Amino acid sequence: MNIKDASTAAISKLSTLYGDREAHNVVSILLEDAYGVTNLASEKVLEDIASFNEDVERLLRSEPVQYVTGRADFFGYKFKVNKHVLIPRPETEELVHWILQDLKNQKKQVDILDIGVGSGCIPITIGKKYKFARLCGIDYNMDTLNVARINSKNLGVPMTLYNLDVLNRTLWDALGRFDIIVSNPPYIDEKDRQVMADNVLLYEPEKALFAGDDKFVFYKAIEELSSKSIIPGGTVYLEIHEDYAADVIDIFRKEDRQIDLKKDLQGKDRMVKVKF
Ligand SMILES: C[S@@+](CC[C@H](N)C(=O)[O-])C[C@H]1O[C@@H](n2cnc3c(N)ncnc32)[C@H](O)[C@@H]1O
Repeated sequence: MNIKDASTAAISKLSTLYGDREAHNVVSILLEDAYGVTNLASEKVLEDIASFNEDVERLLRSEPVQYVTGRADFFGYKFKVNKHVLIPRPETEELVHWILQDLKNQKKQVDILDIGVGSGCIPITIGKKYKFARLCGIDYNMDTLNVARINSKNLGVPMTLYNLDVLNRTLWDALGRFDIIVSNPPYIDEKDRQVMADNVLLYEPEKALFAGDDKFVFYKAIEELSSKSIIPGGTVYLEIHEDYAADVIDIFRKEDRQIDLKKDLQGKDRMVKVKF
């Protein structure tokens, strides 16, 4: 079968699930990232049509296209992803953009810790854009760290990775001190489970999404850890749930700290910066 017929058939099947425009998008991503095909209207034969059809079946079961291809775009870079890591989100690109803007006029070594490193998209992108960054990432999950390690190598950005549960306070001293602590921690409330889409709920790692009984448990731990591990004048950057900005700010509020809240491109409260 040629590429044009294969892609038309796939878009038609996927339209019921995704709508026409998104189905077209998803098939374009699949063909480009997994098969190196950029022209959906090409009359060339699609090699490996059996594998393509299997991929379309996975998409029909609501599996995110990034897990099917094993790749995700973040800040213009391709990151390896699999079921052990969250698919990097556009909102997180905005958080990275904020950090990079603040680093713009600096030329000194900056030690950065990412709590819940996932694919490594945050520190690796910072390292790509700011060459004086010394990067460290932690995650509780060894399989997740393996993906971060591969991305660090593939994208040529060295990073120290620790397999560490941030909620275990006895391990914090091993980390050292940082100029910047950044985190996009698990922050979804259990009650939101019912309204979440299958592609997230069925495929993305539960522990990357949900914080557990106390939805602020990670912010509280990050506040405590930062109080011990950030250098004076250092900064914490956080991604937050749009509904809980006031709660997160309350956790970090202290007289001598300056706190800024930033909206994402959708106009939702999404990022908090705390200057110590
Ligand atoms: C929302 S994801 C963010 C991943 C990545 N930083 C990003 O922005 O795409 C949260 C990450 O925290 C990690 N995590 C969950 N519980 C943790 C814990 N107790 N200690 C350390 N990391 C944890 C998850 O494995 C996941 O990689």
